[in-house]
Amino acid sequence: MREIYVKAPAKINLALHVRGLRKDGFHELQMIMQSISLADRIKLKKKSGGIIVKSSQTELPTNKENLAYQAAEIFFELNPELKQGVEIYIEKNIPIAAGMAGGSADAAAVMRGLYLLFELKPDLNKIRNSLADIGSDVPYCLEGGTVYASGRGEILEKLPFIGEKYLVVVTPSFKISTPAVYKLYDELEGYEKFDFKSVLANLKNKEEPDWNLDYKNDLKKAAEKICPEIKEIKNILNNTKAAFTMLSGSGPTVFSIYNSREQAEKVAASWPRKNDFVTVVKTIDSY
Ligand code: C5P
Repeated sequence: MREIYVKAPAKINLALHVRGLRKDGFHELQMIMQSISLADRIKLKKKSGGIIVKSSQTELPTNKENLAYQAAEIFFELNPELKQGVEIYIEKNIPIAAGMAGGSADAAAVMRGLYLLFELKPDLNKIRNSLADIGSDVPYCLEGGTVYASGRGEILEKLPFIGEKYLVVVTPSFKISTPAVYKLYDELEGYEKFDFKSVLANLKNKEEPDWNLDYKNDLKKAAEKICPEIKEIKNILNNTKAAFTMLSGSGPTVFSIYNSREQAEKVAASWPRKNDFVTVVKTIDSY
């Protein structure tokens, strides 16, 4: 096996609660994460030595700043006996800096893919620990599906898959800096008392999710202040037959869940804002 293709699915947050600022500068979080079918496609090809990253998106860094590069570096550190290197080609479909963990998804997919390419058995605990250093969402991206994530985002509890649901995902062209959103969040409001118990109990019961429960995204106010377009997008989605509408991560992506694929496709087909990235996707289980 000299080259393979792996998929790197994006995530959305069904809920995101900030519990506090930690001594290490990160925030203590409680999140419900869900993988979606929107995915980057990554080609991995053995080469004589070193790591090369190429991408269909010219604005994506191809050096050590790229999380996929960092994942490959960790892979070769964990497997020092390997003499060859890898060429990574990222076909970018997930909008960059959009709150859907595109970079983290690539890193996790490269790690999974390299074990396949070199036909090695992964030591998942070792991999998880080293991937958390690359980014808070990378351990989740290694698992996928419906997950309750806490800590920095790296403590994962698998939940039953919420089932196949159709979504409209809307990303304005505005790129959001995640640290800027967290910083503004700290300045704007104190930490609320927020209880995930009802949401978790509902999701653990394998019932249809009850979208009237206390789902929310604490970063909403800060993200909307930085990118007022989020509000405009939400207003449009709120006037459709969406069962549920939410900001993903630190934004600016907003998504709505519909009861049928037809409803979602109708909303996407008549989307009124010209410069947004708009797509219909479905929820997917772990991979
Ligand atoms: O871990 P990651 O690189 O994705 O984090 C990007 C930034 O988001 C961090 O530098 C930090 O400002 C913020 N963040 C945070 N608390 C988390 C995750 C991210 O403050 N749990």
